[in-house]
Amino acid sequence: MSKVQNPSFSSKLLAWYDNHARVLPWRDDPTPYRVLISEIMLQQTRVETVIPYFERFIIRLTDIFSLAKISDDELFKLWEGLGYYRRASNLKRTAQIIVDQYKGIVPNSVDALIQLPGIGAYTAGAISSIAYNQKATAIDGNVIRVISRITGNKKNTTTSEVKKEIEKFVWNRLPMNRFGDFTQAMMEVGAIICLPNGTPKCNECPFSDECYAFLHNQTDVIPLKTSKPKRLVEELTVFIYIYQNQIAIRKREEGLLSGLFELPNEQGKFTHAMCEEYCNSKGYRVSNIQMIGTSKHIFSHIEWKMNGFLVNLESDFSIEHWTWATKNDVLNKYSIPKAFSFYIDWFLLNR
Ligand code: ADE
Repeated sequence: MSKVQNPSFSSKLLAWYDNHARVLPWRDDPTPYRVLISEIMLQQTRVETVIPYFERFIIRLTDIFSLAKISDDELFKLWEGLGYYRRASNLKRTAQIIVDQYKGIVPNSVDALIQLPGIGAYTAGAISSIAYNQKATAIDGNVIRVISRITGNKKNTTTSEVKKEIEKFVWNRLPMNRFGDFTQAMMEVGAIICLPNGTPKCNECPFSDECYAFLHNQTDVIPLKTSKPKRLVEELTVFIYIYQNQIAIRKREEGLLSGLFELPNEQGKFTHAMCEEYCNSKGYRVSNIQMIGTSKHIFSHIEWKMNGFLVNLESDFSIEHWTWATKNDVLNKYSIPKAFSFYIDWFLLNR
C-alpha cells in the first residue's frame, strides 16, 4: 500500500502562491534596488496605495546612484501623499551609504541590511530573501496573525517572546530554496486570505486542514486583540494667508514632517476674534478673515485637530520667511503633507 505523504508547510504554501500570487510591479523584476524601494514604501502602507508611487519613483530614479543624489525637495514631492516621510529621508541616506560603502550594491545579508537607516528586522529579512534568495524570515503583523491562527496561539503577540516563538516556527518551516517566494507567499496569505477583521477566506486557504483557529471556529478571537496606546491629540490653528492669489507656505525645520512645507499654524484652537488679534499683534495688514472649517489628521502616534482661517493680506510680509506659492506651485513644485489637504484643496478650489 502506498503511503500518502502530508505535504509540508512550505510546499503547500508555495503551490498556493504559484497559483494565486497577485501580479505586482516589484514582483516582475525583483532587482535589489526595486525590492529595497518597494519594501520601504510598503512599510505601514497598503499595496494598492504603493503601486502608483513605486512606478513613478522607479521611472524618475532608475538606480541607487540617482536616489543618493536627489534633492530633498524633489524626493518629498515624489513621496507626497504616501505619508511617514521619515521613510523617504532614511531611504536617501541608505542609498548614500550603499553608494559610499558598498559600491552601489545593496547588501545581501540581514546583518548588513539591518544597519542601514529605516531598515529593521522585518525589512532586512524581506530584502535579503526576496532580492537575493537568502535564507531569512520576515515577520510582520500579517505573518504573526497567520501563524497565530494556524497554531492556536492565544498569547499576547506584541511581546518579543511570542514574536521569537513565531519566528522560530517559520524558520523551521522554510523550504530548501525559493526563500523569496516563501516570504512573499506568507505576506500574500496574510493580505488576501487570512484577513484581520471580518471574515477570513478560510475555504481558500492552503492551511485550512491544519489551522487551529479555523478548525475550532476561533478566527475572531485569534490573534488576541490588545488595546493600542491612546494617541496624543494636538489642536492646531491653520492659516491660509492669501496675497495676490498666492498662498503662504513655510518649510518645517524640525520634528514630525521636517523638510516638508506646511501652512503657517499655531498651537491651540483660535476663535475668529483671537485670529484677528493674532494678525494685529504680528502687524499684518488684513483685508478680511474667514473661518474655513475643521479637519483632522491621524499620524501613527499623534492626532492633529485643526481649525482653519482664510486671511486675505494686503502685503506679502516677506519678513516671515514664507514662500508664496501659486496653485501650480502647490500642485507641481512643493511637497505639502496630506495633513493639510483639506485647506490646500480649499485654496485650489476657491481661489
Ligand atoms: N508587504 C510588504 N512587502 C510586500 C511584498 N513584497 N508584496 C506584497 N506585500 C508586501
